[in-house]
Amino acid sequence: MSLEVSLASLKLKHPIMLASGVLGTTPNMLIRAYRAGASAVVTKSLTVSPREGNPNPVIVELRFGLLNAVGLANPGVKNYIAECLEYEEAMAKIPVIFSIAGAKVEDYAEAASLISEKGLAKALELNLSCPHVHETRQFSEDPKLAARVVKAVSAVTSLPVFVKLGLTTNLMEVVEAAVKHGASAITAINTIRAMAIDIYAKRPILSSVYGGLSGPAIKPIALRVVYELYQEFNVPLIGVGGITKWEDVVEFLMAGATAVQVGTAVYRRGLKVFRELVNGLKRYMKEEGFRDVKDLIGMAH
Ligand SMILES: Cc1cc2nc3c(=O)[nH]c(=O)nc-3n(C[C@H](O)[C@H](O)[C@H](O)COP(=O)(O)O)c2cc1C
Repeated sequence: MSLEVSLASLKLKHPIMLASGVLGTTPNMLIRAYRAGASAVVTKSLTVSPREGNPNPVIVELRFGLLNAVGLANPGVKNYIAECLEYEEAMAKIPVIFSIAGAKVEDYAEAASLISEKGLAKALELNLSCPHVHETRQFSEDPKLAARVVKAVSAVTSLPVFVKLGLTTNLMEVVEAAVKHGASAITAINTIRAMAIDIYAKRPILSSVYGGLSGPAIKPIALRVVYELYQEFNVPLIGVGGITKWEDVVEFLMAGATAVQVGTAVYRRGLKVFRELVNGLKRYMKEEGFRDVKDLIGMAH
């Protein structure tokens, strides 16, 4: 049985990866996620300058998901690379995807160039879609801006460039622009802008008012987006949003995803989730007579 898939030059032993951000920002956590069974790991989104993020509380636990407003807190690209270099040997063996965020087109290009020259990354993922950080969100709402970022990054790197988008009304135009200007894959979706109110304090719970909703609440929406993108575009898709059980992985593959990422389920249930998902997928394939996971991709169409 083969579980291997590829996203441009990135070869994965199976389709289940760690999503950006949920395990914080240390390289050590990425190594642990890989050893626990993720086929590839995505870093927290990194910006050129360090970012403190929002004051607490930044996470609200909800019945069907999680609301977060971490606000792209990260040590900055240079500091993060320095930390990674301490684990260079271990990281060299792992498919690590560096996620980049920024406020200007030039920020993305600068970060991409700094990351590419160190040789630690196997691919880049451009976060154009953090729903509670205005500077970043604008990129996924404007096809022209999205195109400029993808073009600028592609010009300074030979790594595959994945573009991560959120739920916007003009998503199709943004994807078209990203694909036309060199995106190797589309990651969909980021968290969805949402909020919660403390009825006794009589005000929004999050200091930033809005946060991003993730987890099972957004799964049917993410699945619908992947299904639609598969119909419209001939580009590999990475499905993300609410994947909790192996059945969800199968659904995303059948909708058209070549690979998937898991965030909230790892945050909630720990790293053991990866083995559970991979084993469930294998069992399903055996029972249903699939020899190659690639045969599932887009099957529901
Ligand atoms: C606490 C937390 C932090 C996150 N940080 C990032 C980030 O830095 N960059 C990014 O692209 N996505 C980030 N995300 C979004 C996830 O990568 C993913 O797209 C989203 O949570 C949906 O998947 P899930 O339902 O499996 O969590 C974050 C999500 C959470 C819950």
